[in-house]
Amino acid sequence: MIKGFIFDLDGVITDTAELHYEAWKKLSDEMGWHFDRELNEKLRGISRMDSIKVIMDHNHVSLADDVIVELATKKNDIYVNSLESMTPDDYLPGAKELLTHLRQEGFLVALGSASKNAIKVLQQLKAMHYFDVIGDGNSVAKSKPAPDIFLYASEKLKLQPSNCVVFEDAEKGIDAAIAGGFHSVGIGPEERVGHAELRFNTMKEATYFEVRSFFSDFF
Ligand code: G6P
Ligand code: MG
Repeated sequence: MIKGFIFDLDGVITDTAELHYEAWKKLSDEMGWHFDRELNEKLRGISRMDSIKVIMDHNHVSLADDVIVELATKKNDIYVNSLESMTPDDYLPGAKELLTHLRQEGFLVALGSASKNAIKVLQQLKAMHYFDVIGDGNSVAKSKPAPDIFLYASEKLKLQPSNCVVFEDAEKGIDAAIAGGFHSVGIGPEERVGHAELRFNTMKEATYFEVRSFFSDFF
């Protein structure tokens, strides 16, 4: 039986990819590193420290660990500053409607995000009340594609993975959901999240009706 839903944040509830892009771009420009939107796509769903390593590898750069932390912190300061302009108008179309519907139907709802800024983002959106449990980048050590963040969320909800549906926009996020034994819904193109059980191009199409119809055998 499906009793709970676990949502990724960035790219599912709100689109922070552009803000992450701008912050990484600013840091990269300062460092003389190449960084573009194509490379930014590779950062979808992965932690801040994994992200800077992807950018450095791409640029064939290696630095001491403390310098890497310093640069990642610098990027984060730029990113957090940009979150100030985020408002409750910045839900991805359809996200707020789905969350509202799930709560009305009495499902448990958790967040399962790699971001250490997840609470700040939820506060800006005024979305905290939708969640029974918040799993973020501070909750577990291993980030996606490891299933740990979703296992953390389901454990806190006191549900088995097979009783939960994970919503994810990242390839590695769907990998994590599958690895943990969760039902999965991918948000995005086939080439990115086609391995999910169910896929929608955008959250707008991910209505409660569509989700419920697809998983009807499990309700
Ligand atoms: C999300 C985003 C990633 C980001 C990660 C860490 O998963 O999709 O692009 O790197 O969160 O975010 P943070 O806010 O902790 O730097
Ligand atoms: Mg995401």
